[in-house]
Amino acid sequence: MECFSYFKNKSKPKERRSAPELETKSDNSATTADRATKSSSSATSQRGIPELYEEKAHLRVFSFLELRQATHDFSRLLKIGEGGFGCVYKGSIKPVDRKGELMQVAIKKLNRDGFQGHKQWIAEVQFLGVVEHENLVKLIGYCSDDSERGMQHLLVYEFMLNKSLEDHLFNKAYDALSWQTRLNILLGAAQGLAYLHEGLEVQVIHRDFKSSNVLLDEDFKPKLSDFGLAREGPTADRTHVSTAVVGTQGYAAPDYIQTGHLTAKSDVWSFGVVLYEVLTGRRSLERNRPRTEQKLLEWVKQYPADSKKFNSIIDPRLKNQYSVSAARKIAKLADSCLLKSSKDRPKMSQVVHSLQEIIQVSGAGDDASQAADRSSELSETEPVDSESNPGQTGTSESWKRRMAHLVKLGEHVEGVSRRRFLIMQRTKVQ
Ligand SMILES: Nc1ncnc2c1ncn2[C@@H]1O[C@H](COP(=O)(O)OP(=O)(O)OP(=O)(O)O)[C@@H](O)[C@H]1O
Ligand SMILES: [Mg+2]
Repeated sequence: MECFSYFKNKSKPKERRSAPELETKSDNSATTADRATKSSSSATSQRGIPELYEEKAHLRVFSFLELRQATHDFSRLLKIGEGGFGCVYKGSIKPVDRKGELMQVAIKKLNRDGFQGHKQWIAEVQFLGVVEHENLVKLIGYCSDDSERGMQHLLVYEFMLNKSLEDHLFNKAYDALSWQTRLNILLGAAQGLAYLHEGLEVQVIHRDFKSSNVLLDEDFKPKLSDFGLAREGPTADRTHVSTAVVGTQGYAAPDYIQTGHLTAKSDVWSFGVVLYEVLTGRRSLERNRPRTEQKLLEWVKQYPADSKKFNSIIDPRLKNQYSVSAARKIAKLADSCLLKSSKDRPKMSQVVHSLQEIIQVSGAGDDASQAADRSSELSETEPVDSESNPGQTGTSESWKRRMAHLVKLGEHVEGVSRRRFLIMQRTKVQ
């Protein structure tokens, strides 16, 4: 199988030579759906991500040796996480001028040299090389080196001290996030997506928005990560991009799964799922629960935002320290993001606006106002039954369940992207 061409021209000087590209050496190396995606987006746009990358990106190029040293030869002690792409290590690198203090970074190492892995690595470098926003993780540089261990592909990011939203919502080892912190994280994440959808010369669709891809810095400010599945959105004359279906089970929009027609509204759906995860403290899919509670979106439907029993779905780890009226508004906002017809879902800029209003009106963070708000609604509240207590499931358990489920479905889960479902169905190419 032919792989992506990383370098436009191998005889170029080093800094240009190292700029990875989305182009393929031959048509045989791209799926039909991938070719359709390119032709339906960047081909007709003025400038696509590769052109913007050439103009804007100022990424550092690291040698494999440098990153080996930075992580004490990828020491297990420095491993901070693992995802579908590979392992993530904490490392220390020298500043660009090689003077001054060492800088802490997160280093992601591609664990397999598969086609999908390469493709995602290039997409990550190119998209993150172009975007710039306070709610998107900063990519410092990358490494694409031929070492004695074979071809190595790594990514070097700013270090995010508080790991991911997923860790804090579902892992009991971490303190529960306060109500105000949750709202601020949601707002920041929404601003990151709104920037991708509406704030750039070319629209960017993330395609893998989920709580594990919302990283948190030392102040719990959220930054979106993992752009390996990102795609350019449709140009003005088109309604969608046709593509093979990729994403994560439990987060991908049903219309996208069914048709392969990708729009920014697919991310809006995923955002709606995360809104409910933040409200309830439950994962989008939890296989160890009673059948009626395994799928978060099906479960919450039984507790509509305007109903008296709504309170019983709120994360018990909040210990009643939240504004009930704001929670209802968040649920309604989530419901609008989760509308069946993608056209009816709000744009991310509208979601940002709604969240700002909810935060302002509810006086979020003001404990007194939350308590007052709560007591005024308390008479409406039904007792929380023991079944509705979310089990705080560990990441490894969830990983096993997701894998078991994928195996059961007989889906083809290739190479580095084991946690994701890839190419669920080949879509009709336009
Ligand atoms: N820049 C970073 N700073 C600090 N920790 C990070 C950083 N990037 C990733 N991590 C940690 O590594 C973990 C794994 O991240 P990774 O993106 O590889 O996988 P994932 O998001 O959990 O799963 P998937 O591969 O399905 O997206 C994250 O949950 C987070 O805890
Ligand atoms: Mg991730």
